[in-house]
Amino acid sequence: MLTVTNIVKKFNSGERTIKPVNGITFSVEQGTFAAILGKSGSGKSTLLSLLGALDKATSGEVIVDGVNISALPDSKLTAYRRDDIGFVFQQYNLIPNLSAKENVMLPMEFAGVSHAERSKRAGALLEQVELTEEMHGRLANRLSGGMQQRVAIARALANEPKLILADEPTGNLDDETGELIIALLRRLSHEKKTTILVVTHDHALAGQADRKFRLARGTLTEEAVRRQG
Ligand SMILES: Nc1ncnc2c1ncn2[C@@H]1O[C@H](COP(=O)(O)OP(=O)(O)O)[C@@H](O)[C@H]1O
Ligand SMILES: [Mg+2]
Repeated sequence: MLTVTNIVKKFNSGERTIKPVNGITFSVEQGTFAAILGKSGSGKSTLLSLLGALDKATSGEVIVDGVNISALPDSKLTAYRRDDIGFVFQQYNLIPNLSAKENVMLPMEFAGVSHAERSKRAGALLEQVELTEEMHGRLANRLSGGMQQRVAIARALANEPKLILADEPTGNLDDETGELIIALLRRLSHEKKTTILVVTHDHALAGQADRKFRLARGTLTEEAVRRQG
């Protein structure tokens, strides 16, 4: 369960103060696949950075699976981000000269998992994102965009996080590939009971979500979802 209570993020730019996040309150059950829609500059990435403890809210609380991350000391935040949150970005952010499998093994290495266990788990995760074994050893920069995003999703799952934050994960993909990636995220969130929040500006993609939110003028409003199946 993710519970966000009245969070505000203020930036000072010159003599102007902006609040891209200005009093957001919502909560989602564990295992929910939720979409966040909003125009460019509406604060979507800012919101995700607060939820993922990449940045601190000016005020308000973020509670992930019972842990109040707004109150965690800096010394605990690195481990928290590494072990409890998975990030997926528009640009994939893989290490280009490592193989698909090595990219997935990396977060487990930082978390102190043995080599044998890392290798086994990375192989299984790559299967789960539907990458065949012949792709596991391929260098990340030799994979298509859609495949790189699959590797990035497997990497986000590596340490079995409670929460995955995906910031425009389909932004660099064609429509068909984007749709496959969203369907994959949706399936994984349900199978693994991982809460996944995905930022997108694509309405069709947002239509696959269990819940849909719109960010505008610093506040988040829930919209009705109409889905079949
Ligand atoms: N570190 C920062 N310092 C100052 N302003 C920022 C910072 N990060 C984001 N902003 C501003 O906050 C607003 C929201 O940005 P962002 O969260 O990136 O929007 P989105 O992801 O929806 O496009 C923008 O006006 C942006 O310029
Ligand atoms: Mg953004």
